[in-house]
Amino acid sequence: MELLEQLTQTDGVSGREKHICGVISNEILPYVDEVYTDALGNLIAHKKGTGKKILFAAHMDEIGVIVTFIDDNGFLRFSNVGGLYREHLLYRKVRFENGVIGVIGSEEHNKEHKLSKLYIDIGANSREEAEQTVSIGDTAAFIGDLRQINNKVISKALDDRIGCYALIQAAREVQRKNDLYFCFTVQEEVGLRGAKTVAHDIEPDFAVAVDVTDTGDTPKAPEMAVGLGKGAAVKVMDRSVLCDVQVRTALVALAKKQGIPYQLEVMTDGGTDAGALSLTRSGIKTGGISIPCRYVHSPAEMVDLEDVHHAVQLIRAFAAQ
Ligand code: CO
Ligand code: ZN
Repeated sequence: MELLEQLTQTDGVSGREKHICGVISNEILPYVDEVYTDALGNLIAHKKGTGKKILFAAHMDEIGVIVTFIDDNGFLRFSNVGGLYREHLLYRKVRFENGVIGVIGSEEHNKEHKLSKLYIDIGANSREEAEQTVSIGDTAAFIGDLRQINNKVISKALDDRIGCYALIQAAREVQRKNDLYFCFTVQEEVGLRGAKTVAHDIEPDFAVAVDVTDTGDTPKAPEMAVGLGKGAAVKVMDRSVLCDVQVRTALVALAKKQGIPYQLEVMTDGGTDAGALSLTRSGIKTGGISIPCRYVHSPAEMVDLEDVHHAVQLIRAFAAQ
């Protein structure tokens, strides 16, 4: 829980991943041979081996907001960084990198809350006062603390710090055999950007993206086969990728052989780093291991720790085969 607390509560909006990168780098360093970053900011942890070259990727960025304009009264107008559900933004709290806190308000009441009608209130009384702490282009992350309920955890940014957590845990105990790259990518939430440069540089034989997936197990949720507590999800498809059949089949076979609970995932909304990885160079055989997550892109995302554990087991199994 201590590691999960650090991973979820360190802010890292897309393009501003430096702090979270430092946290992950320190955590994974003892379990690998080298850790480095590329020019875009991706963090690459390499555990050397003589077998197949396998790349695992989890993104370390999170959704947030960016300041576009400061009005005369000190209210901040903003745009989205990544996918925000505007109807859920009202009265959410955000945190800037310097610690300034704001709350999102709306100039409309009982309306649809278009992004252009929303503002961030940082308690400033004038533009001058606001400009003393916040500038155009500053980003802020949502606030959402980590809580545990039975076997489940709730927090902001579980998308995809829970994937980062899974990669760190997998790296810790994986057998030294294949040539393994654990990559923590930047800018996934704004279009799978970091995954493009890491995959190009490493040129792996196989790639696996580790991210969260939607579920269909809440009241009147759109019908979907994935549910919390039913095991690691083996990705078949999302909007960015049709997973390589060889990789998908291998993951299912490993899960069956080792008795790891798994479920098949077809996510009809949203993409993952798997899409960018698969389209790099002349194509890379790519699959996905997903962690079922309720309320994705909210300040209170929820995952089941058993699913996380099973995802770690499956990552390790694929890395060692
Ligand atoms: Co996301
Ligand atoms: Zn994600």
